Amino acid sequence: MTAERTTYTENVRLAERANAAYYQSSEPIMSDGAFDALLERIGTYEEAHPDQTVSHQLFSAPGGGLDGEGADVAHEVPMLSLDKVRTLEEIGKFVQLMISLGSPVTLEPKLDGLAISLEYRDGRLFRASTRGDGRTGEDITGRLAAISHLTGVPETVPGADVLEVRGELLMSKSDFSESNANRVASGKAAFANPRNAIAGTVRADTLGYDSSATFIAYDVPGSDEDADLFATHLQQLGFIPSNGLLDEVFYADDESVLDAVERFGFAREHDDYPYPTDGIVIKAVRAGIRPKLGATSRAPRWAMAYKYEAKKATTVLRDIVMDVGRTGNISFTGVFDPVHVDGSTIARATLHNFAFINERDIRVGDTVEVYKANDVIPRINRSFPELRDGTQQPYDPVRVSPKSGSPLDTGEVIWRSTDPADSLGSWVSYAVSRDCLDIEGIGGEIAAALVESELVGDIADLFSLTVEELTTLQLGEGRTLGGRNAAKIAGEIEAAKAQPLARVITALGIRRSGRTFGRRLAAHFQTMAALRSADVDELQQVEGVGPERARLFRDGLDRLAPVLDKLAAAGVNMGSQVADDQAARPLDGMTVVVTGAMTGALAALSRNEMNELIERAGGRASGSVSKKTSLLVCGEAGSSKWRKATELGVRIVTPEVFATMVESV
Ligand code: IVH
Repeated sequence: MTAERTTYTENVRLAERANAAYYQSSEPIMSDGAFDALLERIGTYEEAHPDQTVSHQLFSAPGGGLDGEGADVAHEVPMLSLDKVRTLEEIGKFVQLMISLGSPVTLEPKLDGLAISLEYRDGRLFRASTRGDGRTGEDITGRLAAISHLTGVPETVPGADVLEVRGELLMSKSDFSESNANRVASGKAAFANPRNAIAGTVRADTLGYDSSATFIAYDVPGSDEDADLFATHLQQLGFIPSNGLLDEVFYADDESVLDAVERFGFAREHDDYPYPTDGIVIKAVRAGIRPKLGATSRAPRWAMAYKYEAKKATTVLRDIVMDVGRTGNISFTGVFDPVHVDGSTIARATLHNFAFINERDIRVGDTVEVYKANDVIPRINRSFPELRDGTQQPYDPVRVSPKSGSPLDTGEVIWRSTDPADSLGSWVSYAVSRDCLDIEGIGGEIAAALVESELVGDIADLFSLTVEELTTLQLGEGRTLGGRNAAKIAGEIEAAKAQPLARVITALGIRRSGRTFGRRLAAHFQTMAALRSADVDELQQVEGVGPERARLFRDGLDRLAPVLDKLAAAGVNMGSQVADDQAARPLDGMTVVVTGAMTGALAALSRNEMNELIERAGGRASGSVSKKTSLLVCGEAGSSKWRKATELGVRIVTPEVFATMVESV
């Protein structure tokens, strides 16, 4: 079995589960948009591989056969679909073709409801049925009768003995708000959107509340009337024709069509349209060209549909997740039934902070509006309190860190965890990311393992990791990093020491200091030493830095002083001067102790002058030997400092050797 076929069969099973969840439990597991996209993928596969399909009812009448009601209705003339195009160019081509065949085009909304057929006999409504798979649908005459306020379905059609009218059964905005309010009042969970609502209404065994719906007519099988005449006749009979719902214009050039397509897209985006619609339908006006063009097995060739990419969608919020960021900030993320918006399917979006949620009274279980446009991070705009069923409780999060359980600082809009253990892993991941130290190979899992194993207690510790420590790093389920990865990461870490100062500053992860801030500080102060000695006033000289940010940054520098020392000692770039000088400063990052009398070239130097020499060479002079000591300059073997250095394995050199080490200074 090919991977493609496996995906196809999985898609079928998923869609069946979604269907069952939708109809039988009223707890949908995916949004309409996602479901439609899934069906489209299934349909595409089946068209390309008609011999490899599995048996399913996904394209049959919705809900058909669930409860034994709704006998099959054969559609003598198949109920066709519409060919969909995705680009404006394709619209242009279609319009040009129609015009070349002698027909202008009309524009109609692509209505988002249920395609149904109404059959009249002896001038009376005799039967209503769903489209089903196009050839056979389900009898919904009784279901239709159960809808209390039905607009656009005349009981009788004077003068027409036998008539079949096809169109879309839907809920207009006002139908939807009225019906949903009644539904909620009757104790049932609200429908998330008009499309769900009409489908659920037609399927329900018993409704138990007043509901409203509208029928928009778009087709009479066998009719050979031009669009305008056709619309007039339907209207005279008491129907609402789709033609004329947008405008009455006949378009005779592609440019004005594209203009109108754009205008309508704008209107529907701004909720400025009374019917649920996800696109626009473009049809040839002249009936005379239809027979020439004919139809495929799916769709007529004289009409086509263009679907707008939704930028907004409604869905049901299932959960609100709290997380701790690298700086200890608490974030709130909404988790919802997947929806298709602006070209991708999303199931999570930021809810920013508790105040945002609280002000809008967004509750778990609410129907919410999700918005995403042009790569903007998905947002949850609002909830619909009128759609609540009484089970949704105001959101009241615990005031403790979701990681460590330590109490949160909730004094400001952004809640914070003050427990560093909460954010160390996130801090390390952030510091090694591309915009900071750019140490490839350390992802979230490795960062967490480094913190967990206590090899890394702050970001400076990264630079003292050995290949061996990395090689044996425990990654969970008995896995280790392994020698090759370890060597690669060690190489990356070594290279990261030369990252520009701006990135080193950014990597500190101080609250409210990102990349731009890092670059501005680096440009302004040139060296870490200058930055570290800047007070709040000096920090405010930097573009875009106000008193609050300056204070936060100053606090951060103080808090991170030991980390900054360690970074410098490890040889991480501390600014252009230091970096330029580095080649000429042989003791950079070293702690040096001197003992005994100096000889040779250094014989004349006092201890103080020796210390100055060490500092000039980039080292740190110290009076006592410890495990932090890098070098002992020894004029007296056997002294207590010599013994300690020997014990600790500290490198020991004679004054003569030391003189050659620092001769460039
Ligand atoms: S005309 C033979 N007009 O979209 C004519 N259909 O995706 C076929 N639809 O199954 C239909 N709005 O249910 C037509 N203004 C409109 C429509 C429309 C929505 C539906 C129709 C069709 C589906 C195709």
